[in-house]
Amino acid sequence: MGKYHPGFADSQPNGESFAVSEWDTVNAVADRICFGVADVCISRHKSSSDHAGWFDAHADEFTRSNPKSAQETETVNLIIRDAAEVDLPAIIQIYNSTVPTRMVTAELEPTTVEARLQWFREHSPEQYPFWVAESDGRVIGWLDFKRFLPRCAYRGTAEISVYVDENFRGRSVGQRLLQHAITRAPSLGITALVGLIFGQNQPSLKLFERLGFERWAFLPGVAQLDGVQRDLVMLGQHCPPRCSAGPVSGPVSVETTSNVNTPQARGYKESLSLMHTLMQYRHEPIHSELLKIRDKYSMLHLDVLILIYHFAKICSGNILEIGAFLGGATIAAAFGVRDSGDNKKLLAIEPGGSVKHKRLGTRNILRDLERNLARQRVSKIVNLIKGRSFDAATIRAVHGTLGRDKIGLLILDADAAKRRDIECYRNRFADDCWMVIDDYYGADSNEKITPSRADVDALVEAGLLKPLGFYGWSTWVGRWRGGAGYR
Ligand SMILES: C[S@@+](CC[C@H](N)C(=O)[O-])C[C@H]1O[C@@H](n2cnc3c(N)ncnc32)[C@H](O)[C@@H]1O
Repeated sequence: MGKYHPGFADSQPNGESFAVSEWDTVNAVADRICFGVADVCISRHKSSSDHAGWFDAHADEFTRSNPKSAQETETVNLIIRDAAEVDLPAIIQIYNSTVPTRMVTAELEPTTVEARLQWFREHSPEQYPFWVAESDGRVIGWLDFKRFLPRCAYRGTAEISVYVDENFRGRSVGQRLLQHAITRAPSLGITALVGLIFGQNQPSLKLFERLGFERWAFLPGVAQLDGVQRDLVMLGQHCPPRCSAGPVSGPVSVETTSNVNTPQARGYKESLSLMHTLMQYRHEPIHSELLKIRDKYSMLHLDVLILIYHFAKICSGNILEIGAFLGGATIAAAFGVRDSGDNKKLLAIEPGGSVKHKRLGTRNILRDLERNLARQRVSKIVNLIKGRSFDAATIRAVHGTLGRDKIGLLILDADAAKRRDIECYRNRFADDCWMVIDDYYGADSNEKITPSRADVDALVEAGLLKPLGFYGWSTWVGRWRGGAGYR
């Protein structure tokens, strides 16, 4: 993990990567763009004043051989998930489709799945992920991270490459992959992203710049392709962005505080990143999917369901929910597991009973919960444990189901005894386990909120919980800090 990709680096001395992206259709500028290190390809069907004159003969040829269809103007519905080996043929096909153009890669022959297997296996979801963009079950693009330079001090900097299926360029696929990388970088321990792009590939440079990248280095004529010297531009972005770094507008910088490496400064960055993530999800199809789930089955705010979905999708480890009720949060988490492509276990504890409620009243919680999970086709993802969180039988069942695995996300929305439930399962929390704890806030103190909030505040005070924000009506969001590394 973390080495240069041997296969692609073969044709790229010093391990430079290739990338392919597409220009945003909103700007109606470029319809096809490929960017890379030693190779470049720009293709488009119509010119615009701000890009006129950048396209060489190759680009024109490429454009003519790839006429734009009406479909290409639409934004595509997609999910971004970790790639699996089964995706490799599609990944390689997308890569290979750029080879004959001679505009993207110096590779002269198509590569093979076998040749790239080792390279693919050097990625990992937690450190240097490899993501695919999937639409209607089809892989239509991919993005990978790799170590920028091998020395330890560069650990926080990753180089990214993006490729998009030629049939889906111009539909914001590359942009969304890139945006996802920027958002996810802090939770991957990445503090800076770089992309290497040929100097003449203006649309790709502009795409990166539009997403907050700045030109950090210019290497004139360092690449020779078919006898033509190519310049190389290194674009970079701190994650989250620094205000002081240039013209990029971003959230207020923690660099204005005296020490950027204090826990507070890191927490502040992470909080901003989380808010940004939530904002992005509002433009994804999952937003409307979860809106329906909320209306039918949940007492939680939609933003909280979205965060639960997000954490379930990105967390390392399994998921424990205490207080499933009719399954609103359970289903959001199950969708996250589904879209992660991993076999994470989702355990939901619920004792059952009846509830009088205008919208969500039920005479039999467990019966309705099981029905709702089945309707949403997530029964197989959810391990339902019937009982109260603190009963010995429930604790045994949780331990038995988890096996040796840790919990990477806790959803706590049962009664007021937050500390009790955390104590029951704290020995199974992964370091940095995501925590979603409801009933933290209410305009009038009530029986549930006052003790819940006191418990959470005490755990924060003790350094066991790290707050990252307050969402929806009453939900506290943060991370577990009680692991060995923090004691
Ligand atoms: C507010 S509801 C949960 C709402 C749910 N998160 C949603 O998305 O709508 C609280 C649930 O916790 C359950 N509960 C109460 N005490 C519990 C305990 N000790 N262990 C597990 N669940 C409990 C209740 O039966 C109830 O269904």
